[in-house]
Amino acid sequence: MNTSVFRAMALPMCKAFIPRGTLVSRLETACAQITGVRSQMAASSMPASVTRFDAKRGKLRVGAWPLLAHGGQAVPTYRLRLQTSPMLSYRHAFHAGNHADVLKHAILIALLDYFNQKDKPWWYIDSHAGAGIYDLLGDYAKKNAEFESGIGRLWQRTDLPPMLENYVDLVRGLNPDGQLRLYPGSPWCAFQRARADDRLRLFELHSSDQRLLADTFHEATRQVRIGETDAYAGLKSVLPPTTRRALVLIDPSYEVKSDYLRTVEALKDSLTRFAGGTYVVWYPLLQKPDARQLPQRLRAVSGPSWLNVSLSVQAPSKDGFGMHGSGLHIVNPPWTLPKLLQATLPWLVQALGQDAGAGYTLEHEIP
Ligand SMILES: C[S@@+](CC[C@H](N)C(=O)[O-])C[C@H]1O[C@@H](n2cnc3c(N)ncnc32)[C@H](O)[C@@H]1O
Repeated sequence: MNTSVFRAMALPMCKAFIPRGTLVSRLETACAQITGVRSQMAASSMPASVTRFDAKRGKLRVGAWPLLAHGGQAVPTYRLRLQTSPMLSYRHAFHAGNHADVLKHAILIALLDYFNQKDKPWWYIDSHAGAGIYDLLGDYAKKNAEFESGIGRLWQRTDLPPMLENYVDLVRGLNPDGQLRLYPGSPWCAFQRARADDRLRLFELHSSDQRLLADTFHEATRQVRIGETDAYAGLKSVLPPTTRRALVLIDPSYEVKSDYLRTVEALKDSLTRFAGGTYVVWYPLLQKPDARQLPQRLRAVSGPSWLNVSLSVQAPSKDGFGMHGSGLHIVNPPWTLPKLLQATLPWLVQALGQDAGAGYTLEHEIP
C-alpha cells in the first residue's frame, strides 16, 4: 500500500470539523489549505474520506475507498500532518465600523452606485464576507469600541461630502431610531444596492460568522448564495459570472502570513478567468514588509486599469506594531472614481485623523 505524507495548514476548528467519513473533497471547507492533496486525489480520481483524525497529535489519515471498485488493486492511503494556525481566531465584529470599514464600505457603495447607472444586472462576489451585520453594542464591538473612531465620528455630521452621505445614509437605514447600534458589513452594503436581477455570492469560512450571515440573508436565498468554503476556492468557482458584469471584493483579515501571497495569486488568477471584472482588494497599513510590499505586488498583476487609495489615521507607531490605516487596490475602476475620491479624502482625513500623521494617497491609471 502506498503511503504519502502531506503537510497542510489547518484551523484550530478543524478538530471539530473532521469527523470520520468526511470526504476529502469537502476538506477544503474545513481546512484553509490542503496543499497537494486535492490534485493527488483528482489524479487518482478516487473518492476518499477521513479514516482517522488524531486531534492531539494533529494527524489526519485519509483513505481511498472502496477497494473493490478498483479491481482489488492497492489504493494509496494519504496522511496529512496538520499544523494548527491562529487564523480563524479573527472576528470582524471586534473591528466593525472602524476607519478601515468606513473607507472600504463608502467606496464599495460608490462603485455599486456607478454599476447601477446601467440597466444590466451584476454579481457582487465577496470572498471574505464576515457576518453581514454587526451589533455595535455587543461584547465584541464594545471591547475596543473601534467604531467610535470610525463611523461614530461621521454619524452626527451634517456636512458630509456626497460619497460619505450615501454611505452614512445606508448605515442610518439600519438604525431608523437614530441611535447607532447596527453596522452593515460589506454583504449588507451590497444587498442594499442590489436590484431584482442582481446577485450576491458570499464566501465565509468561520462557522459562527457563516451562521450569522445565513440568518441575515435567510429571506433572500433567491438573490444571495453563501459558500461555506475557502475564499480562494470560492472565487475560482464563480468566475466568470454569467452576467459578465461583477464587482469582486477580496477582503482577507491577513492574520496568516500566507494571505498576502494568496491575495496576489487570487487577483492574478481571477483576472485570467474574468478580465473585465472590477476587483477591490482591501489591505492594512502596517509596518511589516509583507504589508508594505502588497500594493506594489497587486499592481504588478493588475493590467492597465487600476486605482490605489489609502487612508492613514495616524503616524506609524514607534514600536513598529499596529495598523495605522488601510487601503484599497481597485482593478478596472470607473473613470469617475478618482474625482469622487479627490472630493472626499481630504474631508475624511480631517474627520478620522487621530494625529498629525493622518493623510491619504491616491494613485491611478485609467486608460
Ligand atoms: C475582514 S473580515 C471580512 C469583513 C467583510 N468583508 C466586511 O467588510 O464587512 C475577513 C473575514 O474572512 C473570513 N476568512 C478568513 N480566512 C478565510 C478564507 N480563507 N476563506 C473565507 N473566509 C475567510 C474571516 O472569518 C472573516 O470573517
